[in-house]
Amino acid sequence: MSSVVLDKVTKVYPGDHLAVDQLSLKAGDGEFLVLLGPSGCGKSTLLRMIAGLEEITEGDLWLDGQLANHLAPRDRDVAMVFQNGALYPHRTVRGNIAFPLEIAKSDPATVRERVTELSKALHIDETLERRPGTLSGGQRQRVAMGRAIVRQPKLFLMDEPLSNLDAGMRTELRMEISALVRSLGVTTIYVTHDQVEALTLADRIAILNRGVLQDVGTPAQIYNDPATAFVAAFLNSQQLNLLAATVRTPQNQYVLLDFGPHRLTIPWSDPRAYAISQHTGGQVLIGIRPDGLAPVPESYDGPSFFGRVRTLEYHGHEWLAYVECGVPSAPVPEPPDTRARLNGNGSGSGGLGGLVRRLFANREEHQEQEHVGPHAGSGIHRRADLIVRLGGRPAWRPNDAARVGVDLSRIMIFTESGARIDPPRR
Ligand SMILES: Nc1ncnc2c1ncn2[C@@H]1O[C@H](COP(=O)(O)OP(=O)(O)OP(=O)(O)O)[C@@H](O)[C@H]1O
Ligand SMILES: [Mg+2]
Repeated sequence: MSSVVLDKVTKVYPGDHLAVDQLSLKAGDGEFLVLLGPSGCGKSTLLRMIAGLEEITEGDLWLDGQLANHLAPRDRDVAMVFQNGALYPHRTVRGNIAFPLEIAKSDPATVRERVTELSKALHIDETLERRPGTLSGGQRQRVAMGRAIVRQPKLFLMDEPLSNLDAGMRTELRMEISALVRSLGVTTIYVTHDQVEALTLADRIAILNRGVLQDVGTPAQIYNDPATAFVAAFLNSQQLNLLAATVRTPQNQYVLLDFGPHRLTIPWSDPRAYAISQHTGGQVLIGIRPDGLAPVPESYDGPSFFGRVRTLEYHGHEWLAYVECGVPSAPVPEPPDTRARLNGNGSGSGGLGGLVRRLFANREEHQEQEHVGPHAGSGIHRRADLIVRLGGRPAWRPNDAARVGVDLSRIMIFTESGARIDPPRR
């Protein structure tokens, strides 16, 4: 029985570096929770706070219902596997895996039996008498995994354990980790910045950006119904089309998404129409994945864009087309501002609230310089191609005139700051 609860956990490193910002999250007993996010978003920091290797600046950590902020690492019954599973170079594979049991003074016959059994499950039983220096990267990572698993802790923490391996080995070991961890039923928190790893391994995924929790849910919920534009863009094997539109409601007949040269009509019968109409006169962002767009005949009168194919790209299992339509695109917005929430704490200009405000102020100055072009400040700065998925046989050639059909059920609508407007269906 083991659960992990993070309650508004914040980490500020020396030098006023805010790494994790008021993050609340729960991993249930036996759950496989994946922390996903870009480099530097605070994944390792969060894992190290759970392990007790890093102090928590503010907020609470509960392990199995017990407040654990100040619990020593050895009292947490946690096993951790890192990207470079550091092994004892002078011990054999057997000696490495057995080490935690020897420290715990387990009976030698049990140790032998357990190590043999585990090494078979991890496909390293033929290397048991070798030293780590003679193993491949994949084998070393299996040994590190074996050493973490051998004493059956209450909680596994894994920090990108596969990121140093080649693609084939990653896929193989990914399946083995999943099978092994699930057979043991141990609660696992697994860090990665690889979306495929997250989607395939997780019971639930928590997505972070810049220390802020963006979304949490099952892989299908997060993929099909992301909470923010950042999440939609991050969980996308191809680039997300993110377009800027003005909302109009002409004579109240329907809701119109106006892209300048193109328009999409949302009828009032669409359950999202009311939420979108609340932004009449304002700008919104429309997210649509390349597989929500498709070539349609020139005469097609359903929702569509019209343009010219600039180039085609071959991806082995499919083709993508880049179609010039003159539609304004938008950069993926940074996470919604959390200052209001922090200001509401009444901590004045001092304390953590004050510090966080200063840090966010610095962040904004930095972002200000990134805006370019005539729409500087509005977040819109270029007209990009629409990326359209064509499947195994391209229906178009470069320079073709192209009508791009839009599957309205697949569009996601966000505010300019990236929050979801159309109500998530979860
Ligand atoms: N000891 C430290 N002192 C100061 N800042 C740190 C320290 N460790 C990490 N940071 C900063 O905190 C932020 C989060 O770092 P962290 O290592 O948790 O990110 P991550 O999501 O694990 O990234 P990656 O995917 O690259 O491993 C980064 O901006 C990093 O520079
Ligand atoms: Mg890391």
